[in-house]
Amino acid sequence: MPRMRLDKLLSHLNCGSRKEVQAMIRAGRVSVDGAPETDPAAKVDPDTACVVLDGQVQGYRAQRYYMLNKPAGVITASRDARHDTVLGLFPEAERRGLFAVGRLDKDTEGLPIITDDGALSHALMSPARHVSKVYEAVVEGVLARDAAEQFQKGLVLRDGTVCLPARLEILAEGAQTQVRVTLREGKYHQVKRMVAAVGGAVVQLRRVQLGGLVLDPELPAGAFRELTGDELALLRQPGADLG
Ligand code: URA
Repeated sequence: MPRMRLDKLLSHLNCGSRKEVQAMIRAGRVSVDGAPETDPAAKVDPDTACVVLDGQVQGYRAQRYYMLNKPAGVITASRDARHDTVLGLFPEAERRGLFAVGRLDKDTEGLPIITDDGALSHALMSPARHVSKVYEAVVEGVLARDAAEQFQKGLVLRDGTVCLPARLEILAEGAQTQVRVTLREGKYHQVKRMVAAVGGAVVQLRRVQLGGLVLDPELPAGAFRELTGDELALLRQPGADLG
């Protein structure tokens, strides 16, 4: 679709008369692709722009975006004959077209995004984009003293796989160690294999952040909620990661 004026788009989307939406835009209530836009004449592409009014995404195509607090024991595949899947946590009427962005292990908890937006999924998972993923893990065993440096330099796993530089933070030490791991890639069992390479064994793993999107701490295990407009804009920003 050709680009069109922001005020025209919002009034087509029934957000108000042309005059009313112009006042809303000038009052700073509208953002486009995550940045405030106060010019009613600004040109946007209605197919691709993320236009947010008062925190709500506006658009012709009502695509769906959810954050899920995945419990252990369900798999992120959309369909499976033997295992419970993340889509099984959604009411049947809402499942059509939805899928999880990326994969988490069956025993991993925390944040996948569930959507029907293939383009966003592709952008977030593209290896070239290096979108950050943050995990918290409970670890058993004794980690090498220089584990954080090894992560920082780019670990070589036991099978010779070379990892991109990553961050390892020790959150608490005791009988078990709690760590936070930040990756910019998503190799198979990556956190578990990286921790194993520095002497530990992951006994619990939870993804708490994807790009700029943080898992809502109020969301109970097994529950989902729609992303707010601001959260969606965070995901859509190019390079929306931890820097
Ligand atoms: N790393 C893992 O080891 N497992 C996951 O589920 C995600 C990252």
